Amino acid sequence: MKHSGIATEMSKKRLSLLINNLKVIDLVFELVDARCPLSTRSSVVERLIAGKRQLIVLNKADLADPAATKQWLFHFKQEGKASLAVDSRRGDGFRNVWEDLNHYAEELSQTLQKKGRRARELRTAVLGIPNVGKSTFLNKIVGRRSAATGNRPGITKGPQWIHLQGSLLILDTPGVLPPQLKHEEAVFKLAAIGALDKRKYNSENVGEKLIKFLEARYPGSFSGYFGIPPDALSLEILAQKKKFLLPNGLFDLHRAANFLLDSFQNGKFGSFTLELPNEKCSLTT
Ligand code: G4P
Repeated sequence: MKHSGIATEMSKKRLSLLINNLKVIDLVFELVDARCPLSTRSSVVERLIAGKRQLIVLNKADLADPAATKQWLFHFKQEGKASLAVDSRRGDGFRNVWEDLNHYAEELSQTLQKKGRRARELRTAVLGIPNVGKSTFLNKIVGRRSAATGNRPGITKGPQWIHLQGSLLILDTPGVLPPQLKHEEAVFKLAAIGALDKRKYNSENVGEKLIKFLEARYPGSFSGYFGIPPDALSLEILAQKKKFLLPNGLFDLHRAANFLLDSFQNGKFGSFTLELPNEKCSLTT
């Protein structure tokens, strides 16, 4: 497998550890944010997990538009990729996760049996860019079904495994992938959902863009929540409405933008999706 270019995006040490851990993995849970499943896929993921079974998990489905999530699941199916939608905080959708896991474990056991090899557990790992909910997902899946942790004989020394129910192992630490920051649109979406370090973007620009985007795609959603006429919607009007003022008496647009983004990220004014499969916002690696 060739990894040129990846090393510039993440530290060589972290990358080599991740590649090493992935060598022994049978199934990768690739976590993405259901509000923008493409922009939250890392540009390096396909190369890193080539040849492995992959399950795309549309996490935070509770914050996404349910109709759009259905479209995404259908889209991935058309592409021959297994996917499912979950809310890792509440645990919605985890019945499907367990069904899939047991199915893959059974499939592995049959494959090994056919080859005359000894049965073993299905080894899994969680991967994704920061803040997509990897730890929350992992905690939910481990839950009360876990048993002992520890290194497994015969498996590369280093990673700690958690033994799940049945014939399943999961790596105790999710693999963190670099987000894709080459495209302005992706940066906007990552910033809007809170998956980007605040130092990497201007919250006022993102806030203004989010207002326009939501009012175009989900008319009335935003203006209705804040009680502002759609054509008057802006950060300045929001600051005025919320009485966010600077000491010099001007409107505090920065505070208005952060308030807006926080409200959006926590689903305060509804569940919205920022990209659809037919928009052709594909990854450029
Ligand atoms: P990471 O490991 O990929 O970096 O993400 P992590 O699990 O830390 O989750 C990042 C934030 O997303 C957390 O919120 C977490 O609670 C939230 N989250 C994870 N999965 C879901 C989900 O399915 N639905 C919703 N609504 N939220 C989810 P936080 O505010 O940063 O922390 P906390 O308030 O939970 O402590």
